[in-house]
Amino acid sequence: MDYQVVVIGSGPGGYVAAIRCAQLGLKTAIIEKYDTLGGTCLNVGCIPSKALLDSSEHFHNAEHTFKTHGIDIPKPKVNLKQMIDRKADVVKQNVEGIDYLMNKNKIDVFHGMGSFVDKNTIQIDGKKKQKITSEKVIIATGSKPASLPFIKLDKDRLITSTEALELKEIPKHMIIIGGGVIGVELGSVYARLGSKVSVVEFLDSIIPTMDGTMGKELQKSLKGIGFEFYLGHKVTAVDKKAKNVTVKAENKKGELVELKGDYCLVSIGRRPYTDGLGLENAGVKMDDRGRVEVDDHLRTNVDNIYAIGDVVKGAMLAHKAEEEGVFVAESIMGQKPHINYNLIPGVVYTWPEVASVGYTEEQLKEQGRAYKAGKFPYKALGRARASMDTEGLVKILADKHTDEVLGVHIIGARAADMIAAGVTAMEYRASAEDIARMSHAHPTYMEAFKEAALAATENRPIHM
Ligand code: FAD
Ligand code: NAI
Repeated sequence: MDYQVVVIGSGPGGYVAAIRCAQLGLKTAIIEKYDTLGGTCLNVGCIPSKALLDSSEHFHNAEHTFKTHGIDIPKPKVNLKQMIDRKADVVKQNVEGIDYLMNKNKIDVFHGMGSFVDKNTIQIDGKKKQKITSEKVIIATGSKPASLPFIKLDKDRLITSTEALELKEIPKHMIIIGGGVIGVELGSVYARLGSKVSVVEFLDSIIPTMDGTMGKELQKSLKGIGFEFYLGHKVTAVDKKAKNVTVKAENKKGELVELKGDYCLVSIGRRPYTDGLGLENAGVKMDDRGRVEVDDHLRTNVDNIYAIGDVVKGAMLAHKAEEEGVFVAESIMGQKPHINYNLIPGVVYTWPEVASVGYTEEQLKEQGRAYKAGKFPYKALGRARASMDTEGLVKILADKHTDEVLGVHIIGARAADMIAAGVTAMEYRASAEDIARMSHAHPTYMEAFKEAALAATENRPIHM
């Protein structure tokens, strides 16, 4: 065999799996169909979206908060080309970083479409065609945007997140189908730059998989920057004529709305990507939702083939894919790794940020579990007043009898980084009182975490 492990796909799942395999001494290769490594996350996902979120946030602050801070500047203008170019540069630095890591770890990189010839042989169709053999294969081919059967995405006006990261003009009115993570993040970018943004969401809440309080609070904040929401609406038709798009939707009472705009972003989820992979040649089974079927050890039905990341069940998140990459590499070496899927945090990089780990209040109710909830608002924090970031709250859910923390939900400044403390606490099965009795530096946003724990444990926050 040419290799001990071949990884197909170089996203956060694939490249991390390859690095861990190499660290463990396995002769490893990785195959990527595009010219750059890093997958969706680095090229058209996490990194570019965060670059545009940061740039647009600076613009928003220059326009709206500088004056109050005592900084007088002429009315700022957006240079969209520069903003997009900077984003491209950030992507370039990150994808080149992966080239460096492959090189450093002596991982052979093949560019081209990988497809199974049989369970140990992969055909690579790149600049040249070649076949390589491997004892083990890890499928990490990720996902692509999903759409609706009646929408003909033209990638010009009817777009997915990929095109929304590359627009040449600021939309006048962007209509977004789907109020999930992509809808609120990319909607925020353009709302801050001056677009009118309308979100049509099928369910009754935005970011519906998160704790209900988070969706309600975020909706209030986004309305403040000009978002309009059509919740509980089913899209029935999407048309484009020249530069105009029309979206028709219907609510549960059968009432119709017709929205007219210049761009329509479809962000209704992503589908696992296995096109052209030749799974049938290796005998690998898929589940009824088109994902590669794996067991709890991320093994497919074929003994030497594993699958990880967006192409398998579970949350479509970069850090989930990374954990699975490490898990499979260590499993191949006979180690006994473990992933606690309940403690994979979810973050939405809007303003305010939203971050969550563990159970939501809705899930605990559904389970019939007795729980207590402690909340603490950012507006009661000295740190938040100092920076004028007073929107948001921390909510901690704890078992009513044992006080064990069951969920941490934060909306507010720096929530994305703060949630790591919730993950640590829950990994070590801390009680709310454990958190409440630890010293938290003053003045910090983390004091809201301690105060929410005090509220959860004995309903005795100090500053409220
Ligand atoms: P991918 O990153 O999709 O990588 C798969 C790779 O496999 C691709 O490069 C693809 O070209 C390659 N490939 C596919 N088939 C073949 C083949 N046959 N041969 C060779 N190569 C192949 N997640 C977060 O955690 N945080 C975020 O902030 C975040 N932001 C996002 C923003 C946007 C706009 C989007 C779209 C997604 C975002 N995500 C975020 C989700 C995240 O990008 C994915 O969960 C993550 O990339 C999944 O990693 P993966 O390795 O499974 O697959
Ligand atoms: P999503 O699953 O987060 O949201 C899709 C939304 O569309 C849901 O609210 C759903 O109810 C709604 N929807 C579905 N069908 C609809 C229809 N016909 N009409 C109206 N609404 C409809 O998916 P999204 O936003 O496309 O993102 C894809 C994936 O990428 C997610 O799984 C997410 O985890 C990941 N991602 C993660 C980010 C992060 O971690 N910060 C950022 C962006 C994406």
